[in-house]
Amino acid sequence: MKTTYLGIPLRSPVVVSSSPYTAALPRIERCAAQGAGAVVLKSIFEEQILRHAAALERVSQPGMGDAGEYLERYLGDAYREEFLRLVRDAATTEIPVIASINCIVSSAEWVDYAAAMAAEGAAAIELNIFFQPADRRLSAAELERSYADTVRRVVAAVPVPVSVKLPVRLTNVLHLADALLARGARGAVLFNRYFEPDIDVERMTFVSGDPYSEPGELRNVLRSTALCAAALPQLDLAVSTGVHDGAAAVKALLCGARAVQVCSAIHRRGYGAIGEIDRYIDDWALRHGFGSVEEFRGRMNCDRDADDVFRRVQFMRYFPHDAE
Ligand SMILES: Cc1cc2nc3c(=O)[nH]c(=O)nc-3n(C[C@H](O)[C@H](O)[C@H](O)COP(=O)(O)O)c2cc1C
Repeated sequence: MKTTYLGIPLRSPVVVSSSPYTAALPRIERCAAQGAGAVVLKSIFEEQILRHAAALERVSQPGMGDAGEYLERYLGDAYREEFLRLVRDAATTEIPVIASINCIVSSAEWVDYAAAMAAEGAAAIELNIFFQPADRRLSAAELERSYADTVRRVVAAVPVPVSVKLPVRLTNVLHLADALLARGARGAVLFNRYFEPDIDVERMTFVSGDPYSEPGELRNVLRSTALCAAALPQLDLAVSTGVHDGAAAVKALLCGARAVQVCSAIHRRGYGAIGEIDRYIDDWALRHGFGSVEEFRGRMNCDRDADDVFRRVQFMRYFPHDAE
């Protein structure tokens, strides 16, 4: 089943999300061999870019003369080349390559990196933006303004479509999505999933939580997808988080997504999960008499859902009798 995502024709709606599975050419080739519609490359992290910029400042101290200049050029070129090579190599595979930037703070450097990635053949840029608020004076409106500003600057710098991978904890995802659309974003990925520290109570130390998702995490994403698809049909949506099997992918498409992104499914079942999900979508569509994704995409978004289930959030109906 073909689809169009960010204006790019894809042979399948199954996209491999930004992850270790897209961090090197042989892995990307395996994704392509399994029938993936596209890959989102492992993100270049803004933290890395800033560290790189700091290193450049250190080596170009006054008095270093030609050696300083040489080091600066060498370090800069080597660093840039490392990830631009991945974009370039990946662009030779048969599927579109979406380059990803992880933005944690607002800075100018990575706008240039986005442009360089596009020049190397990235079909689109995915911005993974999340500022963890740790300042009680920072309002949601201010934060969201900085998201929108980030997107505006990247859109102005690149000739390819830009999508934004949104954080799950937003007061009103529709408001932010609308602002991003107004700044030129072509799509949104719902949602990113974060590193979650946990605590070992015996040792009283921090430990890493499981980085991989559970299938049940999809339900919350379906709700936002159905709401967003109905309110902002111009924005191309991809669902990320909780797409573990073909049925999950079909649910996402029914809610209005144009593509699904998978990572944990590959972790659990290997690269073959991509083909399994792809085949399930085809078989399901055939069984239900659909000849294309567009014939069923969005059938269960919030516009069409007569019962309005996605707007209902309280358990009223189930309480208290079900608890007995
Ligand atoms: C080990 C690991 C590394 C990841 N690295 C990135 C990354 O660099 N950039 C990004 O946008 N998302 C990253 N993600 C998030 C995934 O792209 C995806 O959004 C998340 O795992 C939820 O999808 P899933 O339920 O299919 O796993 C990573 C996830 C995992 C498990």
